[in-house]
Amino acid sequence: MAYTVPKLIDFSANSLQKAFDDAKSAFENEVVAPKSEPEWKLFRDRWLARKNGILTQANDLWLKAAPKEAKREVGQRVNEFKQFVEQEMAKSREFHQAASNLAVALERVDITLPGIRRPLGAEHPVIKTMNEIVGVFRNLGYSVEEGPEIETDYYNFESLNFPPNHPARDTQDTLFIAGQESKPLRDRLLLRTHTSPVQIRSMEKMKPPLRVVCPGKVHRNDAPDATHSPIFHQVEGLAVDTNITFCDLKGTLDHAMKALFGSSVKTRFYPSFFPFTEPSADVQISCIFCDGTGTRDGAPCRNCKATGWIELLGCGMVDPNVYGFVDYDPTKVSGFAFGMGVERIAILKYGVDDIQLFFNGDVRFLEQFA
Ligand code: PHE
Repeated sequence: MAYTVPKLIDFSANSLQKAFDDAKSAFENEVVAPKSEPEWKLFRDRWLARKNGILTQANDLWLKAAPKEAKREVGQRVNEFKQFVEQEMAKSREFHQAASNLAVALERVDITLPGIRRPLGAEHPVIKTMNEIVGVFRNLGYSVEEGPEIETDYYNFESLNFPPNHPARDTQDTLFIAGQESKPLRDRLLLRTHTSPVQIRSMEKMKPPLRVVCPGKVHRNDAPDATHSPIFHQVEGLAVDTNITFCDLKGTLDHAMKALFGSSVKTRFYPSFFPFTEPSADVQISCIFCDGTGTRDGAPCRNCKATGWIELLGCGMVDPNVYGFVDYDPTKVSGFAFGMGVERIAILKYGVDDIQLFFNGDVRFLEQFA
């Protein structure tokens, strides 16, 4: 119970002694209690406030109420007590001041200290390369189209002239979304194996003439090793117009390879097969490590297996069958398409020896491209 000033009836020396002893020990108990500046102020006001502070009450209840013969004695004791309280209060004030100064000093922030630097992020080498490839074609007037990573069987295969059960599908195995047996085959969902479905989506959306590049992520059932990853990136290209010929395809890709690898690079078109292009070709560039000579430092070049050529991308003239799926008239238009692996190009450009490095997230590797 907090101390309150009692009324006095008995003003004998003994009774006065007890009243002042009680008040003094109450003060001594309370003076050590305040833990903070606001608590200390409450304590101070409780004892010293003019109106209703404990000292004022002692004056009213004890001195003013004292009978004449006791006045002198009570007056003296009240004064002594008042002096005691004021003195102790001043000490306590000093103590609290010092404590709060210390607290402030401890909390002080030195604004001249250097800050904590956050490392700057940078473009991932795969995205950087993808943007660079896209940039080459944008400069040729191509626009950029994107499509979904989860595709239907129709867009990924059927409309690209891979009929159901055609063996060409085997080279592009992927993850199929489960539980879709009740849907017709063409509507079943899978993770796209190439960016070629965006060719179909673009031709459905736009009438010829058309020139698009389609960058994006693709998925295949490939075990990861130094040159394979089940997830990788491609940039697709498609140009459809009247009178587009294989020469246009050759000129375009030859220019693109020179823009990406330097003007001394040569290209060569090697017969190949894709269901959605006819004729089809693989594009090879002269080996950038041995300048197409097949030997490096007197030894067979390992990058091109001593052939002087590196196979880089697939391409061809759009198969007339494909136009049938998008309502283009194959007797009026012709076009070419190509698709290239972004990681493969990044590996060659930057001399990276393992595709997995792009996906492991090791900052020591990635920051070299910043
Ligand atoms: N889509 C093919 C692949 O992923 C590449 C390609 C694209 C070939 C366009 C020809 C034309 O292998």
